[in-house]
Amino acid sequence: MGRKALSEHRMNPSLDPERLSDLDSPLRERVRAAVAAYQQRFGVAPELVVCAPGRVNLIGEHTDYNGFPVLPAAIDREIVVAAKLQHEARIDAVSSAESSPARCSLVEPLQPDPPGSWSNYLKAAVQVLLHYVPEPRGACLLVDASLPAGAGLSSSSALVVGTGVALLALHEQFPPRNELAEQFAAAERFVGTLSGGMDQAISLLAEPGTALRIDFFPLRTRVVPFPSGYRIAVCHSLVRAEKSGHARTAYNRRVWECTLGCRTLAMVLGKGRRLPLTRLADACRYEPSWPLSRFVDALAEVVPSRPVSARELAHSLNVSLDELLPPGPPVVPPEEPLPILARVRHVFEEAERVDQAVEALVRGDVEALGRLMEASHASCRDYYEVSCEALEELVACARSAGAIGPRLTGAGFGGATVQLIPEAAVDAFFATLDATFYRKRLPPGADAGPYRFGFVPSSGVRVVAV
Ligand code: GLA
Repeated sequence: MGRKALSEHRMNPSLDPERLSDLDSPLRERVRAAVAAYQQRFGVAPELVVCAPGRVNLIGEHTDYNGFPVLPAAIDREIVVAAKLQHEARIDAVSSAESSPARCSLVEPLQPDPPGSWSNYLKAAVQVLLHYVPEPRGACLLVDASLPAGAGLSSSSALVVGTGVALLALHEQFPPRNELAEQFAAAERFVGTLSGGMDQAISLLAEPGTALRIDFFPLRTRVVPFPSGYRIAVCHSLVRAEKSGHARTAYNRRVWECTLGCRTLAMVLGKGRRLPLTRLADACRYEPSWPLSRFVDALAEVVPSRPVSARELAHSLNVSLDELLPPGPPVVPPEEPLPILARVRHVFEEAERVDQAVEALVRGDVEALGRLMEASHASCRDYYEVSCEALEELVACARSAGAIGPRLTGAGFGGATVQLIPEAAVDAFFATLDATFYRKRLPPGADAGPYRFGFVPSSGVRVVAV
């Protein structure tokens, strides 16, 4: 099984529309509900419905934009987009999660709206449409979600993928999924987050019952079997982590810290002449025989473990600040001390854990996977500093309730945890968690159900003809 599971991912390249009757019953009902809501709102039936799943990352956090792999799976909850062409040259969208509609003209140049506005996600999707169809027709979209927003489950990328694929399908464009993953990852930077490509790739490429190891630059995927008899449990910390809000600033700072770490490593490896490294993972090309830990050791010879400013780093490397910094405006002022060595240590060690986690899954060694996930959480907390009080408490409650490998998942700063639970123990696990975590945080009598759920990995985006 292991060998087969690790063969190159046999992706179904086609996004060809499926029939409603091809869907399993809970999804079929959600699609039917979206069709009915569309009819009620616009007075006509949609032409098609697209279902784009959210994701949970088992391990490999903050590695993607550094060029290292991730190991996510698709959640069985999604963004559902019902769509039809219209005569007006614009995209109109309404969403059950938003009080105001979003609109995007197809005749004026695309301009970002203020941060936090959901129309930016729509505009990110329109960018991909324009790449394939330079003179597109307008459309009316209705967005519905069975995925909680701000829970770190990538509802925003599912929104961009769902609306983008719907717009392309209306124009009878069905590009290969892996090509779209790169297009959507680039387009989502329209929202202002310097994020990697994990969320878009898994929403497009996931296969049911498996996790997906994804490597980047260029994008490559491998299906990894998910052990039978277990469920992935996702639990919301109830602290919202919005990609368009505070989490965006904190996230972009981490990207900047890694960029500085990378520029410094480029000098260290080049012994004074800067090697052309774009991301931390590029270092492996220059020293392919080194274990990953050796890159951290090499950096530690120049970068102290305490926070250090870019100016101080440039001074100790004997280069000008301009030589050290990447082109463009700095994300953090050069005088501000940053914990660069800790961030880089997390990235290289986490990359090693992804390899080990894939091996553990192939062996069916759930306990080993759990230990790696716990080590990942500790590193996210201590070296990458993306945890928070609620996530720590939730992880502790989950561990006492018997979870395997509880850890924060996604960018952090709030959002959700992920863990594995034996199938037979799922109900008892949630009952304990409700008593120890949710009861005191939710209003009296509130149902914790929407905030924690178990599932087996689901499939990537689907187009359904209506
Ligand atoms: C967010 C980003 C991803 C990834 C994770 C952290 O979800 O969108 O690209 O960087 O954070 O692993």
